[in-house]
Amino acid sequence: MSLAVGVIGTGVMGAEHARLLRDATSGAHLAAVCDADEARAAAAAAGGAVFTDGMALIASDKVQAVVIASPDATHAQYALACVAAGKPVLCEKPIAATAAEGLAIVQAETALGSRLVTVGFMRRFDPAYTEMQAARISGNIGTPVLLHNIHRNAAAPAWFTGAMAVTNSLVHEIDISRWLLGSEMVTAQVTSAPGGDPMLVTMQTDKGEIVSTEVFMNATYGYHVHAQLVGRLGSVEMAAPTRTLTNLAAAQSFGFPPNWVPRFTDAYRLQMQTWVDAVAMGIHVGASAWDGYVTTSIAEQIVDGMAAGNRIDLTFPARPALYA
Ligand SMILES: NC(=O)c1ccc[n+]([C@@H]2O[C@H](COP(=O)([O-])OP(=O)(O)OC[C@H]3O[C@@H](n4cnc5c(N)ncnc54)[C@H](O)[C@@H]3O)[C@@H](O)[C@H]2O)c1
Repeated sequence: MSLAVGVIGTGVMGAEHARLLRDATSGAHLAAVCDADEARAAAAAAGGAVFTDGMALIASDKVQAVVIASPDATHAQYALACVAAGKPVLCEKPIAATAAEGLAIVQAETALGSRLVTVGFMRRFDPAYTEMQAARISGNIGTPVLLHNIHRNAAAPAWFTGAMAVTNSLVHEIDISRWLLGSEMVTAQVTSAPGGDPMLVTMQTDKGEIVSTEVFMNATYGYHVHAQLVGRLGSVEMAAPTRTLTNLAAAQSFGFPPNWVPRFTDAYRLQMQTWVDAVAMGIHVGASAWDGYVTTSIAEQIVDGMAAGNRIDLTFPARPALYA
């Protein structure tokens, strides 16, 4: 049986998710799309139903499962509607614009007793991060002590504010650091350059590991994500972000991708296939609503405390048994 998936939001990410469902995912098909811009939705529909109201797509009997790729502020209302309709949903990060909205999704799932929400933290499916996590679990590098993350974008759009560097970009490192280390973050401290970009965020985990993350939204030269995990016996880090090296004019080089879509193309594809397979098997794989809530809560606590420059003690409610 082929899973009928509806995609809400057909901008940069939604169009890529729709393409994956059309061309690169087995066991599923693109049944419907929705965008506030009807022409954009129609361009991505490829024969599927077209909606301009996300709630109508979620309610449609043509749709069995949903991908949310509309702007951050719309995620919570659509995710809650999917839970109420009993439909599995892959929701782009962040799970919600506020921690309170993220917690409401956790509470809705907990009341239902079922995990229907997967948050699109696709780095968990990136082959380089997967190898790094396997190295940590194998014990080969010894007890982890440090994780260094770099997150650089070529140029941020004008509407991208200082807080969004945390709530929209750093959230990737918060999630992947929790996942790579299998630890929870307990403190955070932020140092920013004049104007707020770049910023350096230092977090410490419940096991005492130190996580440093540089977020540089206007790094000019390209999109560059890097991570190095340091243990007591050795370290493991990402190699170059491309598969090939060019030898030319007395130099060896590789190119940086312009943005996240080419850099994480394998991760987006593997995430979609894994989500479709998990839905078919009735299991949950990937970042849960709890992971999404904790990540957004950490980001919110960092934004609230970063102006003072002091150490921020991170606090959360107890993890519900559904997410054990
Ligand atoms: N996982 C990742 O690596 C990654 C990368 C980029 C963006 N994102 C996330 O994906 C989401 C979309 O980002 P994007 O870059 O594709 O944005 P985008 O602006 O390119 O696309 C958003 C689309 O949503 C539509 N839209 C606006 N309001 C809507 C509504 N209420 N209902 C339905 N459609 C609506 C817009 O018309 C637009 O076509 C964001 O939440 C962003 O944080 C994730």
